Amino acid sequence: MNPPATVSIESATPDQAPLLTAIAHASKRHWGYPESWIKFWETQLTVLSESLATRPTAVARIGGRVVGFHQLQPLGRSLRLDHLWVLPQWMRQGVGTALLRDACHRGVSLGWRELRIVSDPHAVGFYERIGAVRVGVERDSIEGQLRELPVLLVPLDPAR
Ligand SMILES: CC(C)(COP(=O)(O)OP(=O)(O)OC[C@H]1O[C@@H](n2cnc3c(N)ncnc32)[C@H](O)[C@@H]1OP(=O)(O)O)[C@@H](O)C(=O)NCCC(=O)NCCS
Repeated sequence: MNPPATVSIESATPDQAPLLTAIAHASKRHWGYPESWIKFWETQLTVLSESLATRPTAVARIGGRVVGFHQLQPLGRSLRLDHLWVLPQWMRQGVGTALLRDACHRGVSLGWRELRIVSDPHAVGFYERIGAVRVGVERDSIEGQLRELPVLLVPLDPAR
């Protein structure tokens, strides 16, 4: 068995927007959605370089290669996890956990008390495993199909 991969986390830079957009697309496709849905989500899956200059964003590297990223955005009274994507070949190796932990640390250092997540239904087990609490659902419809997206909160505890 291979040893666990060593993941390093660093702030993203604006020139990484195309790379992060490609990672978001590859990661979303992992759940097997039809291409027409991927096209429908184009805006959500696109990372603009301006957002990298203004929103807390971090990339995960393994062996020098960027394998995932997160991006945060203030929204009302909470901080929202706008993006969390890991390349399919690097899933289930601790990258998502390392990114989410970094997102929480950044949230705490910016003075936020909770992180809000609107989860893909396939990812909800991951968030619950790291302590996120389900607080509701957001409803969405695509090509006539109703989707319920779990909404979760992670308390941001400065003592942790
Ligand atoms: C969801 C995602 C970020 C998880 O990242 P990851 O690097 O695979 O997660 P980790 O390896 O850190 O997993 C941590 C734990 O959660 C579990 N886990 C990971 N993905 C899971 C899933 N989809 N459902 C249930 N549990 C999951 C792991 O088995 C692991 O458990 P363990 O500690 O007992 O071994 C990743 O699968 C991904 O990018 N998915 C596609 C994009 C997506 O849906 N992103 C979320 C948008 S809201």
